[in-house]
Amino acid sequence: MNTVSPLKTRFTSLIGVELPFANAGMGPFARAPLAAAVSNAGGLGTLGAPQWPIEELVGLIDETRSLTDRPIAMNIICEFHGPDVIEAVIATGIAAIATGWGDPAPIVEAAHGGGVKVMHRCVSADEAADAAAAGVDLIIAQGRDAGGHTGELPGMGLLPAVVDAAAGVPVLYAGGVGDGRGLLAALALGAEGAILGTRFVASEEAYANDAYKTGLVKATETDSVDTYLYGQREWPGAPTRALRNSTLRAYEAEAEPRTPVLDRPLEVVATRHLPGGDVEIPRYYLDAPLPEDEGDLEGMAMYAGTSVGTVKDIAPVAVIVERLMREADDAWLRLAGLRG
Ligand SMILES: Cc1cc2nc3c(=O)[nH]c(=O)nc-3n(C[C@H](O)[C@H](O)[C@H](O)COP(=O)(O)O)c2cc1C
Repeated sequence: MNTVSPLKTRFTSLIGVELPFANAGMGPFARAPLAAAVSNAGGLGTLGAPQWPIEELVGLIDETRSLTDRPIAMNIICEFHGPDVIEAVIATGIAAIATGWGDPAPIVEAAHGGGVKVMHRCVSADEAADAAAAGVDLIIAQGRDAGGHTGELPGMGLLPAVVDAAAGVPVLYAGGVGDGRGLLAALALGAEGAILGTRFVASEEAYANDAYKTGLVKATETDSVDTYLYGQREWPGAPTRALRNSTLRAYEAEAEPRTPVLDRPLEVVATRHLPGGDVEIPRYYLDAPLPEDEGDLEGMAMYAGTSVGTVKDIAPVAVIVERLMREADDAWLRLAGLRG
């Protein structure tokens, strides 16, 4: 049960949640238990949307709804998810879709027709102005501090620029927020809430291998690095932020000029045990370790934002949220105290 006081922003009012945060809709890692736990704790629980068949994505939404009756959202990657997927997700009447990596304009009308809000990821003020003109309900400013497929500019400069360009559309901030101090800082810079990814990977409810969760707990903020090493076969040109691991260290130790990753022979680092049979995972592959993976898991991509420096344990979502809001309160009181 949520024991923290509600905190009202334009995001909470628009979506109908109590607290100004959402978990990131992280590919295969944010499934029903995580999204439902976040919603039950007062935030906006958001499902990742792996490239699965439509029925399975809709199944994720149904499963989440069996665990919470509060608002939930689903991530949509415009480059990957076709109109049929988007239509099916909108037809579920989910509270919101968190879109990104493409133009939201073709989606907005259909979403609004189905009573679904559109939250669009932007990495610059120009992109935010375009998204506002396209009619999105919320803009997500994603900083370079973000884990996973990251933004382009550090958040501290990006966020106020996006708020100014958003033409009054409420803005959320994603990237490097791991505790309540970060949440309060985002609010101070003009955001109406924050999106946390890395912090929620290290939750009991996240669908990630324990080796990955433990890796996040052990890491410090200097272990979170920008790199183009991972996922270039599956998603060419997309920058990522991940933990410096044995794969990255070996790459950095190579003499220049280095062989481009795509020109290297496939080298299997782990095996994914799926119901339909085992799948071999090559080095530099897109996914971080899932619970069903076995092998050199440390050598796989382990996505982490600069927020990883604040991740000290693997905890239940309810505990993480209670701390988050208490830390935000403490930070608020500290600032108020500066006025004497
Ligand atoms: C493991 C992981 C997977 C992610 N997967 C996605 C994704 O599928 N779609 C997406 O739009 N963003 C994805 N992101 C980025 C998040 O949406 C968000 O911007 C980021 O987690 C915020 O920074 P933080 O990790 O420091 O909290 C992912 C992030 C992580 C850590």
